[in-house]
Amino acid sequence: MAVRGVVFDAYGTLLDVHSAMQRHAGRVGANWSEISALWRAKQLEYSWIRSLAGAAQHRDFAHLTDAALDFAAARFGLTDPDLIADLRAAYRELSAYPEVPDMLRAIRANGIPTAILSNGEPHMLKLGVKAAGLQLLLDEVLSVESVGIFKPDPRVYAHAVNRLGGDASKLVFVSSNAWDAFGAHCNGFRVVWCNRTAQPDEYGLRAVATELADLSDLAAAIA
Ligand code: LAC
Repeated sequence: MAVRGVVFDAYGTLLDVHSAMQRHAGRVGANWSEISALWRAKQLEYSWIRSLAGAAQHRDFAHLTDAALDFAAARFGLTDPDLIADLRAAYRELSAYPEVPDMLRAIRANGIPTAILSNGEPHMLKLGVKAAGLQLLLDEVLSVESVGIFKPDPRVYAHAVNRLGGDASKLVFVSSNAWDAFGAHCNGFRVVWCNRTAQPDEYGLRAVATELADLSDLAAAIA
């Protein structure tokens, strides 16, 4: 079936969430990747907990990202306020994974529109897309803030379907986050799981998604 659009998760899929701490690794210390992993885990945990706690408890992803950094920093004894401020700022300017720009060009050269559907709030996404040099390679940047709850709530995926043509089965959803790939599958998308870190199967994804190690061959994989 002809693909009408490719929808990407942003953080972890197009943008390297660990590039913020990596950039300041010399100041953070030898365990920077452990601290970065906790930062990411807490950021996601907060998104799910706030979604379950109800609409009044919603806070945007920038707030949760900063709160998660504060937790990870306290847990590992990082106390330098200038370093914390630099890490916060670095998260607004993450690096794209190296194959991403050429991959987006290849998809669009095939006449297929590209979009982001992210937990990120609009300003954070705008800064991130610009800093990663992707702003001319994406047709739409959609934020969960239009819905007021985080992925994998079905209303978030439905928002993207409504904005991009109304038929999820003609849209490919691409995520490195297994739980997000699962969410897209449950909502009718054709799914590519970009399993960058060679994780074991979760949610029965291997039976329902195309699995890629990175995004270099995405255009061919969905042709
Ligand atoms: C996002 C999170 C899942 O970009 O990383 O939506």
